[in-house]
Amino acid sequence: MGKGFSAGEESWRAGLGTLRQVVRQELVTRQLAAHLTAGRPMRVLDVGCGQGTQVLALARAGHRVTGVDSSATLLGDLEAALAAETAEVRGQVRLVHGEAERLADLVPAQDFDAVLCHGVLMYFADPAPLLTGVAAAVAPGGFASLLVRNGDALAMRPGLLGHWPTAQRAFDDMSYGNRIGVTARADRLADLTRLLAERELSVDVWYGVRVFTDTAASDAPLPGEEELRALLDCEERAGSTDPYRGVAALVHVIARRVLPVIAGRAADMPDNDERSSRRRRLRQAGAWAGAVGVYAAAQALSAWAGQREAGRGTRPQYSQFERPAFAPPGAVFPLAWSVLNLTTASSAWLVWRAPDSATPAPSRAEALAWWGAAVAIRSGYVPLAFGRRRLWAATADAALLSAVMTRYAFVARRVDQTAAVLAVPEVAWTAFATALSAAIAAKNVP
Ligand SMILES: C[S@@+](CC[C@H](N)C(=O)[O-])C[C@H]1O[C@@H](n2cnc3c(N)ncnc32)[C@H](O)[C@@H]1O
Repeated sequence: MGKGFSAGEESWRAGLGTLRQVVRQELVTRQLAAHLTAGRPMRVLDVGCGQGTQVLALARAGHRVTGVDSSATLLGDLEAALAAETAEVRGQVRLVHGEAERLADLVPAQDFDAVLCHGVLMYFADPAPLLTGVAAAVAPGGFASLLVRNGDALAMRPGLLGHWPTAQRAFDDMSYGNRIGVTARADRLADLTRLLAERELSVDVWYGVRVFTDTAASDAPLPGEEELRALLDCEERAGSTDPYRGVAALVHVIARRVLPVIAGRAADMPDNDERSSRRRRLRQAGAWAGAVGVYAAAQALSAWAGQREAGRGTRPQYSQFERPAFAPPGAVFPLAWSVLNLTTASSAWLVWRAPDSATPAPSRAEALAWWGAAVAIRSGYVPLAFGRRRLWAATADAALLSAVMTRYAFVARRVDQTAAVLAVPEVAWTAFATALSAAIAAKNVP
């Protein structure tokens, strides 16, 4: 088991500075960074650390790293690289020469905040024993970081290269010939998730690695600095965005140690599982009702403010305005806004509940911030138009709401397509309302 790699070791070493390898290492470094604590050193174990690209990066960042590998040659390369580092960085690293199959004999159990195992599982005919070793080393609250060949998209590379018999086989057969000349094994994400759950590791998030550059020649060199940066940024974005990440050559999984029930021992604990899914459904329903409630409460408050100032309802005030021919009857407005409440609030709910792993967190927070801004701006229209009779100011408010809702729809699209579609009715309605408000202002403001 696990001996497959040594036949390709020299090819691996020769390819380390090439485009494909740099993309792989850099992407993993960037994706990992989000899970490491800045300023607080972590205890890291790198199983199959090889030449130690990640070991060096982590030690330089102040983490204490143990590297385990069965290759004396690659550990020698890492030692040579360490010799060029400062004494402080060298002091952070401990190297262990040994077989990953014997991990439990080589390192203490549950002793690491992060256990990396990158590009190793594919050399194991049976992934289970290695995963058991990796899981046993993760401290409570810690996580495992696994980089595996993506079995769900194994036909992509041969398909894009026009190697049709290989592509056809790759839909069903998880073994493949890799670029270092070794027959290796891919993992499907669902299988890996299950194997991890059985070991009390719950998948927090997963990324794709090498979406656009997987068909580059094995010896493709690096482009210029600027192009490389742009390429890496695109790869990084694709690696955390659906559907791109799903067809990446490699899958990078972050799985955290949790209590057995959360890790998903569904078969053992059906009651708990059922209870937690009921709780999840209740939380989701509560969040949806909350979004509808916030929208409705803001509307009710602004209607009350508009009426209070004028001493009568908005409908009679509207009927007294001189109106353009395209103005709808007053009864249309409460109806339209009730429908818009449902669509716009449901849109925000979809953004809120989108899984972390499906979207970069900043897009979700940004979309919800735009949605919140729209609630505030929307509340301004009625008091301005009906309470104070400042019709041009109200028109500006409507125009601003339309612009903010448009921006919201664009940001929401990065998170969830349906959420963006559900924002369209309010975008359209507020554009219409702006035109209507301007026409009423033109006729009624002396
Ligand atoms: C493809 S390299 C990946 C190296 C490093 N993790 C990286 O991502 O750059 C695979 C590494 O796994 C190591 N390896 C393969 N089988 C192993 C085993 N049974 N025990 C320990 N290390 C093993 C190899 O020696 C090699 O360093």
